[in-house]
Amino acid sequence: MTVAAFIDREHVMSLPAHSTHQLTPDLRICRILNGMWQVSGAHGRIDPTAAVRNMFDYLDAGFTTWDLADHYGPAEDFIGEFRRQLMAARGKEALAGMQAFTKWVPRPGRMTRRIVEDNIARSLRRMDVEALDLLQFHWWEYDDPGYLDALAFLAQLRDEGKIKHLALTNFDTAHLQTITDHGIRVVSNQVQYSLIDLRPEVHMVPFCQEHDIGLLTYGTVCGGLLSEKYLNQPEPGYRVLNTASLQKYKQMIDAWGGWRLFQELLQVLKQIAEKYNVSIASVAVRAILDRPAVAGVIVGVRLGVADHRVKNARVFDFSLDADDQARLQAVLDKARDLYRLIGDCGDEYRR
Ligand SMILES: NC(=O)c1ccc[n+]([C@@H]2O[C@H](COP(=O)([O-])OP(=O)(O)OC[C@H]3O[C@@H](n4cnc5c(N)ncnc54)[C@H](OP(=O)(O)O)[C@@H]3O)[C@@H](O)[C@H]2O)c1
Repeated sequence: MTVAAFIDREHVMSLPAHSTHQLTPDLRICRILNGMWQVSGAHGRIDPTAAVRNMFDYLDAGFTTWDLADHYGPAEDFIGEFRRQLMAARGKEALAGMQAFTKWVPRPGRMTRRIVEDNIARSLRRMDVEALDLLQFHWWEYDDPGYLDALAFLAQLRDEGKIKHLALTNFDTAHLQTITDHGIRVVSNQVQYSLIDLRPEVHMVPFCQEHDIGLLTYGTVCGGLLSEKYLNQPEPGYRVLNTASLQKYKQMIDAWGGWRLFQELLQVLKQIAEKYNVSIASVAVRAILDRPAVAGVIVGVRLGVADHRVKNARVFDFSLDADDQARLQAVLDKARDLYRLIGDCGDEYRR
């Protein structure tokens, strides 16, 4: 399928200036980041040529910021190919208009300067950059203090110019505190944060506000479950949920309060969406974008397969009023407390 076949180009618009956020003095991002886990293979087949072509459409609409990882299949290679095509078509200066944030998710084990350096060199090569815009570090085992060694080496690489900004993903508040206590400066932490999963508000948000750390959120549209597609629908079985993302967040909804309560939430979201002539997903994103410490919301993109750019651009056209917030809160008050059930941010990866 060609890109043009599934995008209504006439309706693609540039995002307004308030769609951006100054994450650091030298790093401006789009507040809706394009998530590339969706090209990893766990969300259906992706055609590399169509995917890279589709990346131009995102960039041109103002969705300039990409979130990826070393283990998201070809994501880092797509960034490299996109950069080469962008430079060939528009010159080197055009590269300054995009930001690509990767992650390093090492297997547990001893961390040496050599191991850290080799892994960062691999991402630099694949993405075809001289320095990573932002490197988000993940760690599986808190019992293994090697994360502090890894972060110290990453900070050295940052000071040497290989990494522009150091960041984290899925760290809980206690370990974020340990890291900052060790004098390691991180600019953001990437965590699951949605109307379903409000765990960051217990400890993470206040800590980040106090330490000037931005949150980049994922799961905010629950893999697409927070959309018209699932409104007034019977509970889907896992076989119907055909992406890793849908399956992941359906489990979260089950823990949160189940399908019936989820339908109540979708109905309230729909009423609010109609009030502003936007979609359910846009209200779900807006609701998290406006929370303290949130720098940006990552929305996964199945490049070359499905494109929600036009609808998602509408996030920047409205804001929620007190009545909307109260109606949402009335549903959220009926849900289980995921902090008590699961723990702090990222604990779902460490149970
Ligand atoms: N750090 C981590 O541990 C971690 C974990 C998960 C994700 N992430 C990051 O976050 C990104 C997002 O992943 P996610 O799993 O959280 O997925 P998500 O963003 O909650 O869901 C993405 C899916 O939502 C659907 N969607 C988007 N906009 C829509 C709209 N306006 N209307 C209807 N449906 C819409 C699309 O489904 P269709 O394609 O089916 O249309 C899209 O593929 C990832 O790519 C990755 O960068 C990080």
